[in-house]
Amino acid sequence: MENFTYHNPTRIHFGRGQIAQVGREIPTEARVLLVAGGGSIKTNGVYDQVRKTLGSKSVLEFFGVEANPDYDTLMKAVGICRKERVDWLLAVGGGSVLDGTKFIAAAVPFQGEPWDILAKNAPLKSALPIGAVLTLPATGSEANGGAVISRRSIQEKLAFINPLVFPRFSVLDPETTFSLPERQIANGVGDAFTHVLEQYLTFPAAAAVQDRFAESILKALIEEGPKSVANPQDYDARANVVWAATWALNTAIGVGVPQDWATHMIGHELTALHQIDHARTLAIVMPSLMQVQRATKREKLLQYAGKVWHITQGSEEARIDEAIGRTRAFFEKLGLKTRLRDYNVSPETASVVAQRLKARGFLPLGEREDITAEVVEKILRLAA
Ligand code: NZQ
Ligand code: ZN
Repeated sequence: MENFTYHNPTRIHFGRGQIAQVGREIPTEARVLLVAGGGSIKTNGVYDQVRKTLGSKSVLEFFGVEANPDYDTLMKAVGICRKERVDWLLAVGGGSVLDGTKFIAAAVPFQGEPWDILAKNAPLKSALPIGAVLTLPATGSEANGGAVISRRSIQEKLAFINPLVFPRFSVLDPETTFSLPERQIANGVGDAFTHVLEQYLTFPAAAAVQDRFAESILKALIEEGPKSVANPQDYDARANVVWAATWALNTAIGVGVPQDWATHMIGHELTALHQIDHARTLAIVMPSLMQVQRATKREKLLQYAGKVWHITQGSEEARIDEAIGRTRAFFEKLGLKTRLRDYNVSPETASVVAQRLKARGFLPLGEREDITAEVVEKILRLAA
């Protein structure tokens, strides 16, 4: 196991009725901007609960943060915060709203061109405090310091990570997710599942605790994910999916171990170029990446086959084949199609994606830094 320093500063309020904690968490004198998406919170009762707990606090509202939050939209919120001297942000919505809020929090006090926070990894001196009411289990953004921002005008999708933008608190009430369309809860399960694989399916690092945690989260998602898609009002299934998604990317299982993230980096390009939902890009890339990287991921693939899918029969190659097949079947069972052609994307996108990643200096990718432009292309061609 590698050395690490671990600190997760986000206080979690989990369960029914926990939105009432928001009013206690945000200081009375705060000048708050409530940040939200396209309006789902107005129709499922979440907005009313939030306004109730905020009481007479000074609150402005900013609606309209899109799925895959857009830089130009967020900069409008940055302008409002600066003009109105907002000093607290409350994100109410899915990962996009939360990521967008993290960017606003970083950009408001930032001196200089805010795009540099994403494009040049510019250091931050401070950020506004953030609270969150999460309504979509998927990203883990509710308990991490990462955010992914799109800029449609130049077809970019870039991430930044900074400890200053961990939420101070996050409310996770599974009931707020009952109103999710099937497509979005399926996306959430697929995204969380892939987050675990990105941190687990690498090479052995003598990290038994992280490995057993990762396997538990994967198994919980395999057991509870499809149930949660089929029965949207099943509280216990939702509660487990919500908690699994938080654990998948609250950074705990990734400490001291090698990490991959190539599936995400390739997936972000597919979203930027073809507007495919984040989780669906991962369902396209992951099974194919497992296949192309099967030699370098061999030991962990065998471990994954045995511990997660209970595949014990057959040769090592046959067990790996079956584990990859089960992974693809799991995505498909959730309703996440796993081929580029399912999204009307031609195989020619393979070289475009490879060249974009190369031009940005992001290559090579992978835990062994062996995913070059040629390998990216091979992965996507196999996913055609
Ligand atoms: O905008 P509204 O009206 O709220 O509708 C949203 C949106 O259309 C809707 N929705 C959310 N909660 C709902 C609901 N509809 C009904 N009932 C509810 N309770 O769902 C749609 C999608 O929401 P979005 O926030 O975009 O989904 P998700 O949480 O999957 O977030 C995806 C974004 O997160 C990034 C992705 O790249 C993508 O931009 N990621 C962030 C990460 C992080 N911060 O650590 C890691 C991830 O790998 C990921 O890259
Ligand atoms: Zn993801």
